[in-house]
Amino acid sequence: MLMLDARTLAAQLRQPHGEAALAVGESMNRSNAALNQAAIALLAVADHEQVLEIGPGNAAFVPLLLQAQGSRYLGIELSTAMVEAGNQHLAAAGLADRAALRTGDAHALPVADASIDAALAVNTLYFWPDLAPVLTELARVLRRGGRVCLAFGDAAFMRTLPFTDDFHLHELDAVELALRVAGFSVCGWRAHRETAAGNDGQTRDKYFHLLLAQRR
Ligand SMILES: C[S@@+](CC[C@H](N)C(=O)[O-])C[C@H]1O[C@@H](n2cnc3c(N)ncnc32)[C@H](O)[C@@H]1O
Repeated sequence: MLMLDARTLAAQLRQPHGEAALAVGESMNRSNAALNQAAIALLAVADHEQVLEIGPGNAAFVPLLLQAQGSRYLGIELSTAMVEAGNQHLAAAGLADRAALRTGDAHALPVADASIDAALAVNTLYFWPDLAPVLTELARVLRRGGRVCLAFGDAAFMRTLPFTDDFHLHELDAVELALRVAGFSVCGWRAHRETAAGNDGQTRDKYFHLLLAQRR
């Protein structure tokens, strides 16, 4: 369990760094496993698709994401510690030839226009004060008909957590509207509920939304 005060935990979740980074990455994997599995199921990557993930942490769920034959993966991460740990995981999983993490920011993706078939971002919206610039970037890099899956905590639920004071909590309808404005058609929604431990070690009822949208 992570023994960090609320402020430190929030800063680590925003961008894992320093001595705690690797432990934070492992904690996120435990805390977010079921939500990542749900997002991967909803995105349903097909054979030979190019996948982009924003803020993947240490890339623990990439082997599950890349089940489809010939599918490839790029993860863009703000945290250099997560990029290093993630690329080690990918190599250990035998995926280094078709998956990689790169340091970068969702606001300026180092990715060519219309080069991505499917994208996802799990538990990363809270670090974007304004969704529009990131969703516009996603619209730029996704091909027409490409999909994006966004998974994020319900705003009312997130407000009950002791470490989310500085998080940007987006209401479900605001995320849907921002997706439409950025050039997407929302085509799927799932609620994800579980009773499980969070990154602060406390067990509680968790409530998340998953949105699937298609690039118009
Ligand atoms: C709370 S963690 C979630 C990690 C993982 N997706 C999961 O579900 O366990 C948020 C991650 O997003 C990364 N991140 C935050 N803002 C980002 C940005 N603007 N661009 C790329 N990555 C970002 C952080 O470094 C961190 O690893």
